[in-house]
Amino acid sequence: MSELRAIIMAAGLGTRMKSRTAKVLHRAAGRPLIDYVVDLAIEISDAPPVVIVGHQRDAVQQHLGDRARYAVQDEQLGTGHAVQQAIDHVKGAREVLILSGDAPLTRPETLQRLIEVHRRSGNALTLLTMSLDDPGLYGRIVRDSSGAVVKIVEAKDANDEQRKIREVNAGIYLFDGKHLAGNLKRLSTHNAQGEYYLTDLIEMLREGGHRVGAFVTDDPIEALGVNSRAELATVESEIQRRVVERLMRDGVTFRNPATVVIDSTVSIGPDTVVYPFVTLEGNTRIGNSCVIEPGVHLLNVAVGNDVHLKSGTVAEDAVIEDEATVGPYAHLRPGTELGKHVKVGNFVETKKAIFGQGAKASHLSYIGDAEVGANVNIGAGTITCNYDGVNKHKTIIEDGVFIGSDTQLVAPVRIGRGAYVGAGSTITKDVPPDSLALSRVPQKVIEGWAKQRRAERKKKKD
Ligand code: UD1
Ligand code: CA
Repeated sequence: MSELRAIIMAAGLGTRMKSRTAKVLHRAAGRPLIDYVVDLAIEISDAPPVVIVGHQRDAVQQHLGDRARYAVQDEQLGTGHAVQQAIDHVKGAREVLILSGDAPLTRPETLQRLIEVHRRSGNALTLLTMSLDDPGLYGRIVRDSSGAVVKIVEAKDANDEQRKIREVNAGIYLFDGKHLAGNLKRLSTHNAQGEYYLTDLIEMLREGGHRVGAFVTDDPIEALGVNSRAELATVESEIQRRVVERLMRDGVTFRNPATVVIDSTVSIGPDTVVYPFVTLEGNTRIGNSCVIEPGVHLLNVAVGNDVHLKSGTVAEDAVIEDEATVGPYAHLRPGTELGKHVKVGNFVETKKAIFGQGAKASHLSYIGDAEVGANVNIGAGTITCNYDGVNKHKTIIEDGVFIGSDTQLVAPVRIGRGAYVGAGSTITKDVPPDSLALSRVPQKVIEGWAKQRRAERKKKKD
């Protein structure tokens, strides 16, 4: 059995979220709230944390899988009752850390300091507290004249004098394991909410002759829990702020950091410059020395080094290799892979399309279900006609091919290595290597036609 085990309370419904999704599964900066808390617990303790689940327990368990152990609280009868359900899982642990699944902003360093204070002091319980100008609905910390923590009074149970206390309970507790289990059984529901309060353990411990202490954090945001959409937004912007701060420390430039939206799952290499109003989501990885211009939106995109993504580029489940240039206003749909030095220009849409090294589609094209060889040049307005109304078919354009502007490639079709397709062609049959394919109607010229027409019109008017 480990020295320190963590319990995460996550059974509550989150009524004020007005949602069909369990509160702890709501996302901030790309990850469910509970993920941040589980990560924190794993960083502090060697053993997987015990998550207390209730509302939508299947969804929560399915999401976390074997990153945690689970205790079930069928009815939410209070925080003390919640911990009772988990206590058997942490039998024999020297210390038990209790966290809330809806409070994802606590830093590991803060917990480390709480642990240090606890160990140095010989407390049976050490709490995390903070001082707030507006203590709101938080539990108030009552201290005696010597400064020792005597009890916590919930806002709903507090008298006027107690309600004025600004030091509040952050909801993070470090207990000595041996004092926890026995006392939990003695909790009652004699309070304003008719709940089993975990916080009532303080008085019990003191009556048993044990010490209770507090570590006061100077950054109250660390204890902010999510009870509403407004708090979810506050938590998200704090995580965003931390993500950008970390990236800047690692060498990324942000022209206007307050305007970008970057999931905590995203990585960016040094010397990359990110312009305003960029959104980077999911498993997006960006290399070194890239330029990411305004309005770029990436979801699960792997970007190499020295890539230039111009304004308005949208990409999803795609790969963009070194030194490629994309946009402005290009749309790379799932399955797009752009090789080194590729250029995909304005108003080009791609889907399940693999571009070889140095290939170019610079303007106004749709390239779907296609293999495009190295150094291919695709002219403006080229369209792969990949869909016959029932099935999707593939277009293969081999290395070094030149596709003239305004060409339709009716799939399935293959353009052989080094071939040319004349502008304005509708290609329905394979084109052999090194040949020229041309399918447009021959041009007709009628000499003097315009001049004659003008003359006829003039005559009519006169
Ligand atoms: C609790 C504290 C309060 C503290 C505040 C900090 C008590 C009695 N009060 O109040 O002193 O200032 O947290 O945020 O503990 N949960 C369960 N099962 C339950 C009840 C709650 O799993 O039966 C979970 C919730 O899902 C949530 C966490 O415990 O993740 C805290 O519960 P909540 O109801 O928000 O506690 P507060 O009333 O805010
Ligand atoms: Ca709460």
